[in-house]
Amino acid sequence: MTTNELIKKLFIAFTKNDEEEFYKLGEELINLEKRKKHNLVAKELKEALYSKSHSRINSNKRFKTNMPIPRDNDTGFPLLEIKQYELDWKQLILTDKTNYALKQIVLGFKSYEVLATYNLKPKNKVLFCGMPGTGKTFSAQVISAYLGLPLVYINFDAIISSYLGETASNLKRVFEFITNGIWVVLFDEVDIIGKNRDDQHETGEIKRVVNNFLQMIDNFEGDSLILASTNHPHILDPAIWRRFDEVINFELPDQSERLSLIKLYLKPIKKGKDININFISERTEGFSPSDLKSMCRDAITHAIINERDSISNNDLIYSLDRFRERLDLRTNS
Ligand SMILES: Nc1ncnc2c1ncn2[C@@H]1O[C@H](COP(=O)(O)OP(=O)(O)O)[C@@H](O)[C@H]1O
Ligand SMILES: [Mg+2]
Repeated sequence: MTTNELIKKLFIAFTKNDEEEFYKLGEELINLEKRKKHNLVAKELKEALYSKSHSRINSNKRFKTNMPIPRDNDTGFPLLEIKQYELDWKQLILTDKTNYALKQIVLGFKSYEVLATYNLKPKNKVLFCGMPGTGKTFSAQVISAYLGLPLVYINFDAIISSYLGETASNLKRVFEFITNGIWVVLFDEVDIIGKNRDDQHETGEIKRVVNNFLQMIDNFEGDSLILASTNHPHILDPAIWRRFDEVINFELPDQSERLSLIKLYLKPIKKGKDININFISERTEGFSPSDLKSMCRDAITHAIINERDSISNNDLIYSLDRFRERLDLRTNS
């Protein structure tokens, strides 16, 4: 068959919704290019044919709406939430290293089928570590938007029942739920061992919960992308790392990243001529992206409530000073 004939048949298969024929013809086209020694074209066609957005993501396995959201038997609270986001990767400002590592995860995930032809699997169990406000939860949201998959959000705290026996069953039901679809799953703030769980729960029992969780992560064989986050990596048992395919560190932003973040957060308002973002970025060492976001919001609010439609350097300095005072309180407490 010539390329023209193949393409014509491919179109017909598509309009007839004949998936099997479509893939067969697609493969034929790829082989034809290979025989012509157009290896790059063949590779690109293969990637396009098996790109997730066309096959896996749209597959009907994706979202079983008939599956009820699991709830805690005791409190009745939902154990997870399903969320959809419209976010752009550009809104995420990270060190090059972290950004690259995250990109590799999503690229791997998108290349699922191509990898499968080589008998390989993408990394799909990833742990995010870093201080509060560095973008761990946000990254999961951006990744879910980027992949066009819903985010199953699991606040780890919600799983911990006041009856510890219930906790194991909660975990089990959460895993049963996520096995029924392809999603980005975030187990947020899994560092319960470090939290102040006073007399109510014994450490031994908490450890058992964590081990239980790790076991389930280990045994998970589904196609979803499983993310977990922690603010306190040092308190987690080193054995934890081994259960994940990848550990990604979220660091505090350096000066140039702070500059980008401040620019990003001041976008909504006009800037006065005297504004010196460089100066502010130099003076915000130790601020997390989330701190910078609050600071910029405060500065914008300050301008607006004082009836100005543009922000001045003084607005920024005012909110910076206020914020510093608060940070001092935080570190001294
Ligand atoms: N690296 C980042 N780039 C851009 N915005 C960020 C970043 N980190 C945090 N933010 C902003 O701060 C908010 C809170 O961050 P979050 O992801 O909840 O932090 P974490 O989960 O690490 O504690 C986010 O919703 C986002 O608006
Ligand atoms: Mg978070």
